[in-house]
Amino acid sequence: MAITVQKLLQWKEKGRLITCLTAWDFAIASLLDQAGVDVILVGDSLANVALGYTTTLPVTLDNMIYHTQAVCRGVKRALVVCDLPFLSYQESPPQAIRSAGRVLKETNAQAVKLEGGHPAMIETVERLTQIGIPVMGHLGLTPQSIHQLGLKKQGTTPETEEKLINQAIALQQAGAFSVVLEHISDSLASQITAKLTIPTIGIGAGKHCDGQVLVTADLLGLTETQPPFAKPYLNLRSQIIETVEKYIKDVQT
Ligand code: KIV
Repeated sequence: MAITVQKLLQWKEKGRLITCLTAWDFAIASLLDQAGVDVILVGDSLANVALGYTTTLPVTLDNMIYHTQAVCRGVKRALVVCDLPFLSYQESPPQAIRSAGRVLKETNAQAVKLEGGHPAMIETVERLTQIGIPVMGHLGLTPQSIHQLGLKKQGTTPETEEKLINQAIALQQAGAFSVVLEHISDSLASQITAKLTIPTIGIGAGKHCDGQVLVTADLLGLTETQPPFAKPYLNLRSQIIETVEKYIKDVQT
């Protein structure tokens, strides 16, 4: 049975934890879907893991749509969410509607994700959800603001904790169906999770969220370095290098 945003809301109520991983192409997406992951995020981290950029900023809406189309071809069950990339939604609600509308019209993704919880973003989320576009929020460390925030843990003072709690509540009130919490303390993530009726999906936010997300390249050990909170389950990078070395040796001898 295909997974819907309504299903995620029901799972929050029942306490059924949600699994989410990122994908950037058909092969990875079909493996994740076959393994039974609930939500596949075409994250703008594809800028780093698939396109070789050092930040997520250069990736374009056309890049995201192209990769989301490939991911959707590999998915039968999971809910597919596509990240709106930097400057494809921050300018104004009409710009966000056009970008999110393109994602829904040109791919089979069922939802978009956008970063931030300041008042202008809350208005954007409200406008998108009013016209039937499901939105996943993203608070805490938001990589599109890397030059302002760096890559450090967020919500580390009582003031910033309160700000993040209020932003999470505002996202829910604006109609978001879930919110990613990235690189915040376990206790802050736990407080936000308890206050919301929509699921929280944590990454580096402890075990009290309603679900967890990881960048699949980090999970598989495909990247040279991983963020401190990403537990690698495999070192595929070294396995691939060893395999290719064996192939080279076979061919040369
Ligand atoms: O782009 C991405 O992969 C993300 C996850 C880190 C949540 O936004």
